[in-house]
Amino acid sequence: MTTTENRTPDRTDSPWDGVLGEHWAARHREFDAMVGGVDDALFEAAAIAPGDRVLDVGCGAGATTRAAALLAAPGHAVGVDISAPLLARARKNTAAEGVQGVAYVRGDAQTHRFEPGGYDVVISRGGVMFFADHVAAFANIGRALRPGGRIVFVCPRRPGTDTEESQVLGRFARILEEGAEPVRPDPAVVAAHTAMASLSEPHLIHGALHRTFTEIAVNPVDLHTRWGETPADAVEFLLSRTPDRHVPAATRAALEDTLCPYATARGVRTRAGVWLVTAVRRGDGAAV
Ligand SMILES: C[S@@+](CC[C@H](N)C(=O)[O-])C[C@H]1O[C@@H](n2cnc3c(N)ncnc32)[C@H](O)[C@@H]1O
Repeated sequence: MTTTENRTPDRTDSPWDGVLGEHWAARHREFDAMVGGVDDALFEAAAIAPGDRVLDVGCGAGATTRAAALLAAPGHAVGVDISAPLLARARKNTAAEGVQGVAYVRGDAQTHRFEPGGYDVVISRGGVMFFADHVAAFANIGRALRPGGRIVFVCPRRPGTDTEESQVLGRFARILEEGAEPVRPDPAVVAAHTAMASLSEPHLIHGALHRTFTEIAVNPVDLHTRWGETPADAVEFLLSRTPDRHVPAATRAALEDTLCPYATARGVRTRAGVWLVTAVRRGDGAAV
């Protein structure tokens, strides 16, 4: 398996390479459980076959990279991510699980020099919303695919006040605002959270992809987000984003009460929605 030399500086100014990545790396099990509800849809659409060469963009701690490698064997999967802390966690998890045919590359997927045409399939579980220039990023990612190769990714739909998840998180935020000391948000983290929604409408996805990809399909997938085993676990997980914030016991109790209606035998879960996007790399040289 060939992976391009890492040209990324030791530290980038992406919050994923700092506080956000460190948080995801420390809490990788909870985050995998939180977003894992999309995996069936993602992998069914990706239809990875034995021998495929797979690129996982914004691979984080690499759960989907490893799943892809198992499906692709005797092919392989490469995870690319800008976050040093998350890639360190991905490598540890890969060694612990003993998965073969996996490699990780640190880089900004918008500019990283991938091996041209080196992949049959690109996948991403929520790792493609953070680019400075989406058109340039998808053109660069397209160059990594052979002509006719496919990209399959999931990204958040626009959070509306009508979705269960938005309502619950909205109530959660209001209780915190009223019952805990205020926090000074880190502007880089706020920008990353804003970027989460950068592909939240079909026209934004088509606009980002159409230069490089054809047969673009954007379909809604409804799923559950899992926040923890119990309401107390879920509160602890949600508050771990701001570990220095003092949250009084009465406020914690109110937060738990908010989540109690969503406690199930499969953990605390709220209904949410993502876009499942599939597209095929143009064969006419447009992406090259
Ligand atoms: C929402 S997390 C998803 C992580 C992983 N795909 C998962 O499902 O657990 C977004 C990921 O995208 C990565 N990322 C953000 N900007 C990136 C960029 N420009 N190039 C490569 N990866 C990036 C982050 O470091 C992070 O791992």
